Amino acid sequence: MKPTIMLIGLGGLGSITLELLAREEDLGRIVVGSRNAERGMARCNLTRLGAMAQGYAPSISFIPLDLNDKEAVAETVHREAPDVILSTATMQTWWLPDLLPPEQAAVIKSAGFGVWLPVHLTLTLKLMEALREADYRGITLTAPFPDVVNCVLGRLDLAPTCGVGNISQFVPKVRLLAAERLGTPLDAVRVLMVAHHALGPAVVRAQVDNIPPYFLRIEHGGQDVTEAICADQLLLAPYPRTIRPGEPFPHRRNDRAAGPGIFLPQRGAAACAWAQRIAGGLSPHRRPQRRATRAHRGAHSGRGHCHQRAFPSL
Ligand SMILES: NC(=O)c1ccc[n+]([C@@H]2O[C@H](COP(=O)([O-])OP(=O)(O)OC[C@H]3O[C@@H](n4cnc5c(N)ncnc54)[C@H](OP(=O)(O)O)[C@@H]3O)[C@@H](O)[C@H]2O)c1
Repeated sequence: MKPTIMLIGLGGLGSITLELLAREEDLGRIVVGSRNAERGMARCNLTRLGAMAQGYAPSISFIPLDLNDKEAVAETVHREAPDVILSTATMQTWWLPDLLPPEQAAVIKSAGFGVWLPVHLTLTLKLMEALREADYRGITLTAPFPDVVNCVLGRLDLAPTCGVGNISQFVPKVRLLAAERLGTPLDAVRVLMVAHHALGPAVVRAQVDNIPPYFLRIEHGGQDVTEAICADQLLLAPYPRTIRPGEPFPHRRNDRAAGPGIFLPQRGAAACAWAQRIAGGLSPHRRPQRRATRAHRGAHSGRGHCHQRAFPSL
């Protein structure tokens, strides 16, 4: 029987994930849970029609789900009995500060990613508590900042099966550039990698200061060619791409100069006010830079071992 997957959260990441899942032929039911039923059902309808137009026939159903209501979540999971749960639910998306004027955005950025931890941790913690209540034995995958969130959960004996995330951008880039350098088909190249979320700016934007430790091995036809093809260079080589919805590309610079207000109709006044409160509360003397760095260092502790578990051959 084909596995049932429950996708929680239908924001930027959840919506894209749903589109991809709808085109997976080895998948059974896709159960989608989010708070806003009207928007959620409409999103599921759009995905269903798009997939059908491409020759797929996914089984997608929507259920209203609020992770703050642990009992209801436990009951829903018990009833739907998914083989896999994938949560993308978070209290605010990660690129929200980019909607602020540059000065306020810079203050938030200077605090490091750790300042966002509660935003990404809270709902995942509630999910894992509900799953424990439901005695759920299936696979749980989580997207919200798993490098740190899952370590915290691991300390509470609530770690999900695995985190999913950015390393899936790093590896294809290295694999592609390695194949080009070797003049060989992609299939002949294998990349093994363990890395922190904090490596992102180096790999994505070629920002080479403060590179966190990582493990990288490249094999060609089973042979280790890591040093021979200068794998580190390939990892850090510029490879421009679009990054986030709020990215100030040339044609959007005027939007950014106009400040966050211009985005209010799209993202909601509450979201912007929230980000501005954070920016205002972070004085240059109270930046939790150090704590954020420590959080990154602890990325591989706890039961989560998220990225390492994604590459079991290591
Ligand atoms: N690991 C990675 O590589 C990676 C990549 C991109 C993003 N992310 C992370 O993935 C997460 C999602 O990002 P995003 O851009 O998709 O955020 P988003 O657009 O804000 O979406 C978050 C979703 O969570 C849902 N949600 C909020 N509160 C909820 C609750 N109490 N119960 C159930 N659902 C709730 C919201 O839907 P409703 O309002 O309808 O409930 C919303 O659709 C973030 O933590 C982000 O940092 C990870």
